[in-house]
Amino acid sequence: MIPPLSQLLVYLAFSSGDLKGRAVELAKRLSLSLYRGDEEFDYLLEYSDAGLALVPSVAKGFGSIRCDFSTGEHSHRRHYGGGNGQAIAKAVGISGKFTPSVLDLTAGLGADGFVLATLGCNVTLLERNPIVHSLLADGIERGTAAGLYDSELGLIMARLSLLQASSSDYLQVLVDRLTNCSDDSESASVQPDVVYIDPMFPLRKKSAKVKKEMQAFHQIVGTDNDSDALLNNALTVAQYRVVVKRPAGAGFLAEAKPSYSLKGKSTRYDIYTLKKLPG
Ligand SMILES: C[S@@+](CC[C@H](N)C(=O)[O-])C[C@H]1O[C@@H](n2cnc3c(N)ncnc32)[C@H](O)[C@@H]1O
Repeated sequence: MIPPLSQLLVYLAFSSGDLKGRAVELAKRLSLSLYRGDEEFDYLLEYSDAGLALVPSVAKGFGSIRCDFSTGEHSHRRHYGGGNGQAIAKAVGISGKFTPSVLDLTAGLGADGFVLATLGCNVTLLERNPIVHSLLADGIERGTAAGLYDSELGLIMARLSLLQASSSDYLQVLVDRLTNCSDDSESASVQPDVVYIDPMFPLRKKSAKVKKEMQAFHQIVGTDNDSDALLNNALTVAQYRVVVKRPAGAGFLAEAKPSYSLKGKSTRYDIYTLKKLPG
């Protein structure tokens, strides 16, 4: 479950006076206090000219988290990631003839959503954790700004839309809307082609392999123990398939056997097919 933020000491900080307005606004929205410079803290949510970052206290030994779509890993994967040959592309059913719309129920920092958008998918991202949502919203805002100077990136960013929402509530709204649809074409306008789920999994011990920033992410998000419950409604609203991302050795979500799986070294995609893909 989401660890209550009240159990962690989190403050909103800003590195220069011209960022104060944004910091005050976000602090209000997240019910956080502004950092004055002398309080003990677990995390600072800090605005600087480089964007919003989650900065752990030195004592934690974790890395900072920032969402950057125009540089680093995201940019490298966009240019050299392998296009439609990537397992995630095959899992959601991208082909030369079909590019699905995707409802991502577990957006996180948007890495998977961004890959899907680079491959042409329109992606609706849902994230319930207020801090993660703020980091992702800031990353999308800066990516969109960078897209003014990089038209390909601009098109990719335009395919992402982010909502702060509980996915179970959102799915329930879609299920209710579908119940009231009078024909197939009306239903199709409500249904995403593919629903994508990538719940948090407990970290494997204190492995050196776990990236430092992942440790901070895990402490802020916790474990998604309620993710089994998403699958049923996901299967009701998706038009073509539901895709669940799991660690390679993990059991199936809700113990539900998928139609088939794509297995990688550390990750597995479980695919629940509903209808043949077009093309
Ligand atoms: C493992 S992370 C997803 C990582 C993401 N696929 C990526 O590539 O960055 C899971 C995220 O889903 C969010 N989440 C889990 N269950 C959710 C729910 N029911 N509604 C909304 N967000 C949820 C968590 O807060 C967390 O940020």
